[in-house]
Amino acid sequence: MADDRVALAHLPTPLEPMDRLAAEIGLPPGTLWVKRDDCTGLAGGGNKVRKLEYLCAEAIAGGCDTLVTGGGRQSNHVRITAAAANRLGLACTVVLAGGRPSHPTGNVVLDYLLGADIVWAEDDGYYATEAAIEAARDRLRVEGRRPYAMPIGGASVTGALGYVRAADELAAQLPDVAVVVTADGSGGTHAGLVAGLGDHRRVLGVDVGTRPDLGERVPEKATEVAERAGRPSPTGDLRLDRDRFGAGYGAPTDACREALDLAARCEGLVLDPVYTGKAMAGLLAAVRDGRITPGEQVVFLHTGGLPALFAHAYAAWIAAGVGRVDQRQGG
Ligand SMILES: Cc1ncc(COP(=O)(O)O)c(C=O)c1O
Repeated sequence: MADDRVALAHLPTPLEPMDRLAAEIGLPPGTLWVKRDDCTGLAGGGNKVRKLEYLCAEAIAGGCDTLVTGGGRQSNHVRITAAAANRLGLACTVVLAGGRPSHPTGNVVLDYLLGADIVWAEDDGYYATEAAIEAARDRLRVEGRRPYAMPIGGASVTGALGYVRAADELAAQLPDVAVVVTADGSGGTHAGLVAGLGDHRRVLGVDVGTRPDLGERVPEKATEVAERAGRPSPTGDLRLDRDRFGAGYGAPTDACREALDLAARCEGLVLDPVYTGKAMAGLLAAVRDGRITPGEQVVFLHTGGLPALFAHAYAAWIAAGVGRVDQRQGG
């Protein structure tokens, strides 16, 4: 597998203990960890860098000259794709859901800075954005370019190979890891981890409300990814928490706010309101209702996403909630 990637990420990412958060939520010391995939380096880092190592290698091997992808307005995958294209000397066209904002914030500022050619989909739907990515690819072909199109989130089998590698890295750092908790957007990260760890029960995905068909797509994709990586087909049943996204993708929830506060105040760990905050809310819920058992080795995958915290939509929410969590956690 190693020959199929271009190096873009700082690897291995650190695995850090979270003993203060563990104590706060009733877990024994030495059993709660964070895998710092927010520290993969490229343009602010995050999980997408690992996927793009494989996706870009495939694009280059196929003689492509332009990366094409898309996502929600605050897509981290879009930002990292634009950065990877620049690093590798490729052009980049990205489709962002919805209409052009009057005032760009968060990731959109970085998309402009990185110089991606931005297409506004004028529609917020998942499938409308996927269709717009395909339309952009077709237009580029007509213009004589050699585009390489990636689905939302880089969720192809090729992209998910980055998380097979991450699973191997984690297994070397913590051989008895029982469960990894991760945010599920397109589900590619989850599928790659399952393929790498070999068992669905070792990954708890927390749906952030991006994709309606996660329950079917993650197991299908995990099997395909395992096959491509030359691993056995994963065993066990899918673990998916579909109760944390509230009113929808990016919608603020009290549980997400509690998770942001706890991580920040117990561990100095900054999560984001769209992905990792909801994933941590899923971890807290699983500890509280017994789906995570005290004593088993639990890893929270920090997948990045910090720029969205600086989008206007969340600033007032963050400021208004300050002090809601017990100040003792501030130490
Ligand atoms: C910060 C962050 N975390 C998690 C995810 C979810 O990853 P996946 O699309 O592989 O499910 C994304 C996807 O956009 C992301 O940007």
